[in-house]
Amino acid sequence: MKNILIVNGSPRGDRSHSRRLVELFVNQWQLQNPADLLKYREVGRANLPHISEDWIAAAFTPPAERTLKMKVCLSKSDELVDELLWADVLIMGVPMYNWSVPSSFKAYMDQVMRIGRTWTFESGVPDGVYKGLLENKKMYLVSSRGDFGYEKGGHNEHMNFQSTYVKLVFGIMGIKDVEEVILENEEYGGEQFSESIKKAEKRIKSMLRTGGVKEITMCEA
Ligand SMILES: Cc1cc2nc3c(=O)[nH]c(=O)nc-3n(C[C@H](O)[C@H](O)[C@H](O)COP(=O)(O)O)c2cc1C
Repeated sequence: MKNILIVNGSPRGDRSHSRRLVELFVNQWQLQNPADLLKYREVGRANLPHISEDWIAAAFTPPAERTLKMKVCLSKSDELVDELLWADVLIMGVPMYNWSVPSSFKAYMDQVMRIGRTWTFESGVPDGVYKGLLENKKMYLVSSRGDFGYEKGGHNEHMNFQSTYVKLVFGIMGIKDVEEVILENEEYGGEQFSESIKKAEKRIKSMLRTGGVKEITMCEA
């Protein structure tokens, strides 16, 4: 039995394509792994706090020396980090906004990038070598984009500060096993977008099949 954390980063609700793909992924996963525990973390529509001067002071104070005020200041961050530590598998839906991630998702990453909890320095003091503390976890990253060509070798590769950034930050925290589902072309609509949806859905189904679990019969809508 595994613990599955589902993180949705789109500010959109029903109109969000990343949410729909994440849900497809979760439904398939559940059919194949009914005993697994699921937890949803809303990010895109949650208004998570940005880190503040007090937050920084608290995070960089050794836990034993933190005042009550500092502990309260870090409580949301602690809750988010506890979830990550609990999870064996992360399923994240993240749109591309202005070639990066939505600011709400950036706020989330800032809250969970916690020294001493999700990462540390290799030697224990600043040495430029980061050691991730989130071990033995796998991430499925569902990226949604309006344009296309952001993959390696694509004409927009140099403008991809979204999936490359998410993978970098979570990689520093120790999550290096990442599989991606990419939905692109939303801004073009029509056939071009329909093809992209089909490709992303196919990818989800094939990824779950190769995960060592039995194939399931889908009920087409
Ligand atoms: C404010 C904003 C900025 C965007 N910036 C980009 C961008 O830089 N590159 C891109 O390819 N698409 C961009 N898009 C398109 C989104 O990535 C696309 O609509 C995606 O499907 C959003 O995810 P969602 O459907 O899960 O909400 C942007 C959309 C919005 C609303």
